[in-house]
This record gives sequence, structure tokens and C-alpha cells, in this order.
Amino acid sequence: MGTLNEDYLLVAAIDFGTEYSGYAFSTRDDYSRDPLKVAANTWGAGNLMSLKTSTCVLFDKNKKFHSFGFEAEDYYSGYALDDEHHDYYFFRRFKMKLFDRMQLKRKFMLEDEMGKKMSAMDVFSACIKYLKDHLMKRCQRNLPNTIDSHIRWVLTVPAIWNDTSKQFMREAANKAGIIDEQLMIALEPEAASIYCQHLPMTRLGITGGGFVPFAPGSKYLVFDAGGGTVDITVHEIQSSGSLKELYKANGRNWGGTYIDIAFRNLLADIVGNDVMDDFQATQMMDYIDLFREFEVKKRNFKNDMTERINFKVPIALNDDFKQKRGKNIKDHIKTKPQYDQKVNWIGDKLRMESGVAKGLYEGACDSVARHLKSLFSEGQVKDVQTILMVGGFSESPILQDIIRKAMPDKNIIKPADPGLAVLTGAVIYGHNPSVIHAGRYTYGVKAKVYPEAKKIADYDKDVLCADIFDIFGHLML
Ligand SMILES: Nc1ncnc2c1ncn2[C@@H]1O[C@H](COP(=O)(O)OP(=O)(O)OP(=O)(O)O)[C@@H](O)[C@H]1O
Ligand SMILES: [Mg+2]
Repeated sequence: MGTLNEDYLLVAAIDFGTEYSGYAFSTRDDYSRDPLKVAANTWGAGNLMSLKTSTCVLFDKNKKFHSFGFEAEDYYSGYALDDEHHDYYFFRRFKMKLFDRMQLKRKFMLEDEMGKKMSAMDVFSACIKYLKDHLMKRCQRNLPNTIDSHIRWVLTVPAIWNDTSKQFMREAANKAGIIDEQLMIALEPEAASIYCQHLPMTRLGITGGGFVPFAPGSKYLVFDAGGGTVDITVHEIQSSGSLKELYKANGRNWGGTYIDIAFRNLLADIVGNDVMDDFQATQMMDYIDLFREFEVKKRNFKNDMTERINFKVPIALNDDFKQKRGKNIKDHIKTKPQYDQKVNWIGDKLRMESGVAKGLYEGACDSVARHLKSLFSEGQVKDVQTILMVGGFSESPILQDIIRKAMPDKNIIKPADPGLAVLTGAVIYGHNPSVIHAGRYTYGVKAKVYPEAKKIADYDKDVLCADIFDIFGHLML
């Protein structure tokens, strides 16, 4: 029988997101004092400080790991500036490729930004290894005696992933040096639910009394608005306090990156798509800076803002434009009546009326609201009264307002740190796995001995084992 290390001292969770990835951890001691007390790293990129880093990874020409996160973006764009990037392998936003290829083969290759191929397993395991090593170093600073075997790892995956994708992540973690006895896989919405269940009412953003969101029998919809997608899952709290999944839906592409795309489209509408494409290809560093600047500004957009918004835009964009069109953007913009008085371009500054800035949210927010409305008319979701808003994009006051307006009869719960709900919940789950519904084998530990009768041949001709997990719920109860 496979056993999970019971003598662990620390739980560490890794959230590998489409756009951002990070880790969080807490010791057994921390957990017993306050389950919500977890530590996470702060990653910086210029003015942007974040508890998760960008999901980007860079390998050298020998496919040897080079760097991860904002650092990988900086290195790669630096090499591009010197035209020395061609031999490198640079991957970004590749997580959903696992989902797109549900019939995933272990030898599945991923294409990098330039179309060069590397084994998906090597790419994923290098990322997990980087986060694992980073965390170990960080822990050893505070707890110098921490060693590998003291840690219980939790890796989160989307609810809609099939067992093949989950098994792939497990193997990638094994390859990164995390053995099965120390590894748990948790579903992102379940981790987010656990986090919310542990929060005091005051931090759940609930107004008005008399409403107990997590009483046995209650159902709620987990609305996880991330970078790439908005994932929807419906849970019911069982009488034992564990979770039962009633419904899950494919994530739709209305996450936070939709706003970045809207901003890019606005710029392209002003300067022309060809100029924007060229600028992206030849001035990668400036391009990345422009979107980091936008990221910082975008996080503060609110419905009631009236002031104009100023962005710093790289001078190189105007230079490129001038070279192609023979004039400055500042003068060109005056020939576009739709931007008259609304968008001004002055040197390296772009000044935008607040209405234009808010308008960037329209497409994603309207689609999300329409989708939620139609979902609530469906069978399994009809009688659900509560929406739990988690994921980084749920931090947006504009999105929150839209959801509240679209769903006036529902109880909307927005925890204090929606962007960290998955990570924090995953750490809590690592300390206490019995909080999740015990009936699914994916939470178990892979048994060491695979009985012959349970071996099945997959499409890849590799041998996988079905039904070989112990149930944590049983181990813990
Ligand atoms: N205050 C804010 N206002 C608007 N958007 C925000 C805010 N804070 C974070 N975001 C957006 O949230 C997104 C990141 O969310 P999150 O970290 O949950 O994504 P992820 O886990 O990488 O993606 P996924 O869950 O789709 O795999 C980014 O697009 C970011 O711009
Ligand atoms: Mg996420």
C-alpha cells in the first residue's frame, strides 16, 4: 500500500498557472496555530511586484535549463536585443497545451515561441524543479535544517484535466525530484474552496447577516477567473464537511489576458497591426516593458475612476511608426476621430480617458456575465445561490461590479486575496487531505507495486496503471 509521508514538517504547494506560477508553504507548527498563515515569495519585474511569477521558461541551445519566470522573460528579451536569441528555447503560456492535447503522449513535443520543439515532459519538469529548488533555498534561509524529505508537496491542476494530464504532471514532478510518497495532486477549485472555508466571515467580503455559506448541504459555484481562462465548478458540502463536485465546465478564454489583448488591439488600431507586429518582433524588451506597465495600471482600474490614465510607452514604438509612416503617432492620432480628445500620445506617454480604459474590460466582462446567466438556467446549477470569486482576475473591481449587477439575487463571496486562494488552499489541503471528497483516486498516492491485472496499455504503448491509488480520506479518517 502506498503511504504518504506522515512525518513531514512542512507543506509546500506549487500553482502552475497559465499566466502566473508560484509557491506557498507553511510548517506543521504554523498550520496548527493558524491554517491561513502561509509564506509565499515576492517576485519583482520592474514596477510590478507579485506573489506569482510569469509562467515562462528559457533553455539554452543544448536544451539545458536557463531561467524561469520574469527572469526568463528579461534574459530572452535581452538576447533578442543583441540578436542572440535564435538558439534558445523560450516557452510561455504553455500549460493549456496539456489540456488541448488530452490524448497526451508522453513523448509529446511543445513548440517554443519560434516554433522549435522540446519534449513537453522536459519543459514541465524543469519548471517544477525550478520552483521546488527556489522554495528549498527560501526555506533553508529561515529553517536551515530543512531537507527534501521533510516536505509534503501539493501540485494543483485544473478540474477539467483528465487522468492522463494529471498523470503527466505527476511524472513531471517525479522527474523534478518529488517522489510519489511526498506528492499530492489537488484540483484548483477544490483548493480555492478550502481556502474560503477557512476564512473568517469578515474576510469573505460577505455583507449582511444570517447567511452561512459553508453549512453542510450548501452548494456554491467556484468562479476561478485566472489569466487564461475562467473555470467554473459547482461544489456541495457533504454532511461530513467534505466536498462533492456537482458540475465542472471547460474554461473559457475570458481571463485577465483578454484585457491585455484588448489593449494591444487598441494600440494596433492606432499605429497599425504591421507596426505593432514589427515592434513585438524586433523590440521584445520594450514590448515586454509596455505590457508590464499596463499590468501595473490595469490592476487599479475601477468603475468609478474619472481621471485620465497615463502609460509610459517605449519611444521605439514611435520611432518604428515614424520610419514606416513618415510621421509621429501624436499627429497621426489626430486624424482618427474615434480617439479625438480620448487618447493622446505625447512623447513617451499615452494618456487615455478613463472611459476608454474601462472599455478594455467590456468584451471579457460581458461574455463572463452572459455565460454565468445562461449557466444558472441549467439543471445542475439552477438552485445554486452562492458564487465564490477566486483567481487573480477576480481581484478586479470592474469584474466584481459586473458579476454583482448580472447576478443580483446571488450571494457573491470575494475572499480577501482571490489571487492566492488556490495556493493557500492547496497548502491547507496538504496539511489536512480529508477535507476533500474521499471518493476519487486522483488524490491518492500511487502504490509502489502495480498488480499485473490492473495494467492497461495506453495509446502511447507505455504502461499506465488504472485504479492504483490509495484514498487519502481513508488514510486520514
Ligand atoms: N487587480 C486586478 N485587476 C485586474 N486583473 C488582475 C488583477 N490582479 C490580477 N489580475 C489578472 O489576473 C490574471 C492572473 O490570475 P491568476 O494568477 O489566477 O492566473 P493563472 O493562475 O496564471 O491562470 P489560470 O488560472 O487561467 O491558469 C492576470 O491576467 C492578471 O492581469
Ligand atoms: Mg490559476
